[in-house]
Amino acid sequence: MTQAPEAATAVAYPQDRTCPYHPPAAYTPLREERPLTRVSLYDGRGVWLVTGHTTARALLADQRLSTDRTRDDFPTVAARFTANRERRVALLGYDDPGHHTQRRMLVPSFTLKKATVLRPRIQEIVDRLLDDMEAAGPPADLVNAFALPLPSIVICDLLGIPYADHDFFQSASRRLLRGPTAADVSAAREDLRSYFGELIDDRCKHPQEGLLDELIADRMRTGDLDREGLISFAQILLVAGHETTANMISLGTFTLLENPERLAELRADPELLPAAVEELLRFLSIVESLLRVADEDIEIAGATIKAGDGVVFATSTINRDTAAFAAPDDLDWHRGARGHVAFGFGIHQCLGQNLARAEMEIALHTLFARLPGLRLAVPPGEIPFKPGDTIQGMLELPVTW
Ligand code: HEM
Repeated sequence: MTQAPEAATAVAYPQDRTCPYHPPAAYTPLREERPLTRVSLYDGRGVWLVTGHTTARALLADQRLSTDRTRDDFPTVAARFTANRERRVALLGYDDPGHHTQRRMLVPSFTLKKATVLRPRIQEIVDRLLDDMEAAGPPADLVNAFALPLPSIVICDLLGIPYADHDFFQSASRRLLRGPTAADVSAAREDLRSYFGELIDDRCKHPQEGLLDELIADRMRTGDLDREGLISFAQILLVAGHETTANMISLGTFTLLENPERLAELRADPELLPAAVEELLRFLSIVESLLRVADEDIEIAGATIKAGDGVVFATSTINRDTAAFAAPDDLDWHRGARGHVAFGFGIHQCLGQNLARAEMEIALHTLFARLPGLRLAVPPGEIPFKPGDTIQGMLELPVTW
């Protein structure tokens, strides 16, 4: 099952998916080596790969694993991400107690109640985007016409950022996640930081509405948060708030179109929608790798993770663990998928999950209700999807109706 830390297996990690909604075929041997195995990263470094559901949840809740991405021993899945060592990202870059102090300031804005209050506004944005898409098409690129603008507008509204700047921040987010080089990642991060710095300085003088203004009034003026801290919050919320949800909407749509029986079932009974969104989150596991480094030795599943070892959680494989989900490669709205780790687990579990669920439910429901003839405009094999070292999803999704 497990091997000595020095002996990384020949399996290279991460790899590209061969089908956009299944884990890479090359991970099949890793699934057999559950719950913990060794893989090699792009730089030849051997790290622990967590593939079992119970072990994953135990380790994600274990405070002896750190998320401090500025450490030299923090694992990266591609050379460009070494740029993340230069500056600590809010929340995801901090362990407790620093993390807890930051998260406490944001939690009240991301509750289930807050997401429920936002639903009519989300519906309004969805309706308007589909009006525009219908007026201009068919065909359409669903990513640019719908999947990307929806979460971008929602997070801009919530933070109080002008959506008119979307060309800038969508391109900066793209470079932050996909590079291609470390210099591109650094430059994108610094571009976003300057943008938010100027916006925050302006809002200090001329307050408007939104979470950034609330944080200036409630936290900056009291000294709980400084300008740098607020820039970091704005950056992670903007990037995490639109890139992930956009990919879930595009890949979720593709998956439904490729699984017409499941789509028909959902159309016949829209009450299944919340369960279907949960199952799509599990099935698609778009945030493929969660990364940590061990602060101390940890004995688990018959192995010893040594202090300084890199630990990578392969969410697509964890979410297909037969011990947690029966027939895990089947898309099944009735299974009760809630125990998945698609939003992570433990103290860093996704802050925006209530908002993301609301957006996905409204987007998928309205899209398929309004366009009963929705289908791919090109053969599925021609649709470009994202490489394995970034958030999974489509680069473009040509559709017609
Ligand atoms: C379907 C869409 C989404 C998915 C699949 C997703 C996935 C995740 C995952 C896996 C993590 C944990 C990362 C780790 O432990 O290393 C995370 C954290 C986070 N997400 Fe999301 N996310 C989504 C949408 C959102 C949205 C809409 C927002 C913001 C409005 C958001 C904000 C965050 C933040 C701030 C964190 C860091 C939390 C912390 O460290 O305490 N996410 N997300």
